[in-house]
Amino acid sequence: MKWYDLFSNVYDSSLEKLYFESRKKAVELLDLAPGQVLIDVACGTGANFKHIKAANTNLEIYGTDFSEGMLRKGQSNIDKNNWKNITLFQADARALTSSFVKEKLNKDITFDRVICVLGLSVIPDWEQVLDKMLDLLKEGGRIVIVDVFAEKRNFNTWLVEKFARADLDRKIWQTLKTKTTNFHQEYLPVKERKVGGKLFVATGIKN
Ligand SMILES: C[S@@+](CC[C@H](N)C(=O)[O-])C[C@H]1O[C@@H](n2cnc3c(N)ncnc32)[C@H](O)[C@@H]1O
Repeated sequence: MKWYDLFSNVYDSSLEKLYFESRKKAVELLDLAPGQVLIDVACGTGANFKHIKAANTNLEIYGTDFSEGMLRKGQSNIDKNNWKNITLFQADARALTSSFVKEKLNKDITFDRVICVLGLSVIPDWEQVLDKMLDLLKEGGRIVIVDVFAEKRNFNTWLVEKFARADLDRKIWQTLKTKTTNFHQEYLPVKERKVGGKLFVATGIKN
């Protein structure tokens, strides 16, 4: 995760504005209620946390990422804002089974909500990782995914893929649709040239 360790130094300052409204929308779609337990997979610097906290303060929040650099920024963000009930842990998302999480957190835990923003276009073996995220969810729990899909590839697609180490050919929402009920997907109003394709949010309930 050397690239994201490095990228962590400028990640928030370069991307915060671009994705701000999309994160807000994603958190709205999480449909949070007090007392819920949530995990942010590939949470990076924790850019979603301020929106999650604004939506509902009474939650148990977990964030996980492979990059120690991104997690360090995330932790300093948490400390700076004096946010309570957010626990970060380092993991390769490909290893995120419930027994792995239990061992990591030292408790048996299932989640009411899973969010993953701009993670599944980056993480290898994303289909298996999506299955793992759904396994972590309680029956009736909700998952929200934000990511980019390049319908028409162009130079910007190539640039974003190089820069973010991403693959923008993944039809993530289509797979999510086959695995959830109450599926909903919409495109978000971010210019395609800025993110290399169409930014979308997709959500569904665990079957
Ligand atoms: C484009 S960033 C998105 C970060 C954050 N979710 C956000 O919304 O800003 C992609 C993130 O995926 C993480 N990542 C890449 N491969 C991973 C893996 N195998 N397991 C967990 N996280 C991974 C990177 O470290 C990085 O933080």
